Amino acid sequence: MRCISCGATPDSAGQDFRCTACGDLLEFFFPGWTFDSPAFDPAALKSLWLNRRTSHGALDQSGVWRFRELLPHIPEEHVITLREGNTPLYHLPQCARATGVENLHAKHQGMNPTASFKDTGMTFAASSARQGKFRWVACASTGNTSASMAAYAARGNMHSLVLIPEGKISWGKLSQSLDYGALTCQLRTDFDGCVRILNDLVRQKPVCLLNSVNPYRIEGQKTAAIELLEQLAWAPPDHIIVPGGNLGNSSAIGKALLEMRGLKLISRLPKLSIIQAQGANPFYRCVREFGGKKLEPMTADTLATAIRIGNPASWKKALRVLQATGGEVEQVTEVEIAAAKAEIGADGIGCEPASAVTLAGLKKLRKSGFVKAGDAVVLILTGHLLKDPDFTIKFHRGELFAGTPAEIAATHAKSLQRAPVVLDADLGAVIAALDAAEKDSEIQT
Ligand code: F0G
Repeated sequence: MRCISCGATPDSAGQDFRCTACGDLLEFFFPGWTFDSPAFDPAALKSLWLNRRTSHGALDQSGVWRFRELLPHIPEEHVITLREGNTPLYHLPQCARATGVENLHAKHQGMNPTASFKDTGMTFAASSARQGKFRWVACASTGNTSASMAAYAARGNMHSLVLIPEGKISWGKLSQSLDYGALTCQLRTDFDGCVRILNDLVRQKPVCLLNSVNPYRIEGQKTAAIELLEQLAWAPPDHIIVPGGNLGNSSAIGKALLEMRGLKLISRLPKLSIIQAQGANPFYRCVREFGGKKLEPMTADTLATAIRIGNPASWKKALRVLQATGGEVEQVTEVEIAAAKAEIGADGIGCEPASAVTLAGLKKLRKSGFVKAGDAVVLILTGHLLKDPDFTIKFHRGELFAGTPAEIAATHAKSLQRAPVVLDADLGAVIAALDAAEKDSEIQT
């Protein structure tokens, strides 16, 4: 491990995974991997990974551990896996038409075992906690990290402590951590407040911190990018677009891209762009207002509760990969997020609100000319549609923005709303509804 700021290389990490010299974050680095002297034969690696897809071994069936050559070593006896990864890459035909980008795909990380991208990092970090013989693991979360951690802790016979902001995470996510047996504490604060308490806690109690400041999380999450490139037959897309919250995911995907190029697994880098909600945009402001020189924490607010984060821990890592790949940052409004979510749903895919910032951001990047019509674009959808059904139902019923300042702006998303129709149990009424819907769809096409 190495500190991202001062370059110190401690033999082992402290409880808070921060550099003891300067307090910044740590990362794994692999000294043997350089562009001029690849440690591995790229063709041999690609065929090894492909062959593992026919294996029945637990590690080979995981879309994370299948790529273990690019990860730090953890002995198999410690591995906790739920066969995470292996997520689909979908073409989005309707979204493609709406954005004018024909070659538009979504890598759906919501198709992981606990229905979010967190599982790819969690299998790795939870396994390292088990290797370290921890009885307890802990995280602060907006709901997905906690669901994932609780599941992996349960599978690995460890106890888990979850700190979540009271009233600000979706029921779907909360219910997961309860069922997986976590000690779930709803704190009367926001996500950033939960992080502060947790940081103090890990200095006093022997618990393993499983937030994405834990560099093992980042290593596991790298595999989403490796798997994506494999699915694209190692032909890099022009753009990869991710939501930005605590900024662990963008850091991980960017790290994987840089490492893959270093190992000659790919010949050029896709541009990695990061999209934030306008009400939770500290990284957007860091780049656009402060030229990347500083990040000013803020009080975050957005209905996309997964990314309701005002003081992202991994902003320096994310900035580095944004600059190295030539990506952009964007911010999108609440209405833009809701509309984009419904459009992804209308392609038969669906996702949770935080994931939909990617499509909303793509529209802006198209408008600014950063993304061209002929470009190949991949959106990373981070969570499953069913994570936050409240948001979806309120949107389709027209209740999401009622009585809020966004009410007028929301009228342009009306055509995307499909409110349920309440009818008497009467065949004639159902046929009338069907005929009316058919007429509507004829008008629209
Ligand atoms: N999308 C979803 C669905 C998320 O749950 C998160 C983060 C993000 C995007 C942002 O990813 O933090 O790596 O930039 N959720 C965390 C949690 C914070 O606690 O579940 P990031």
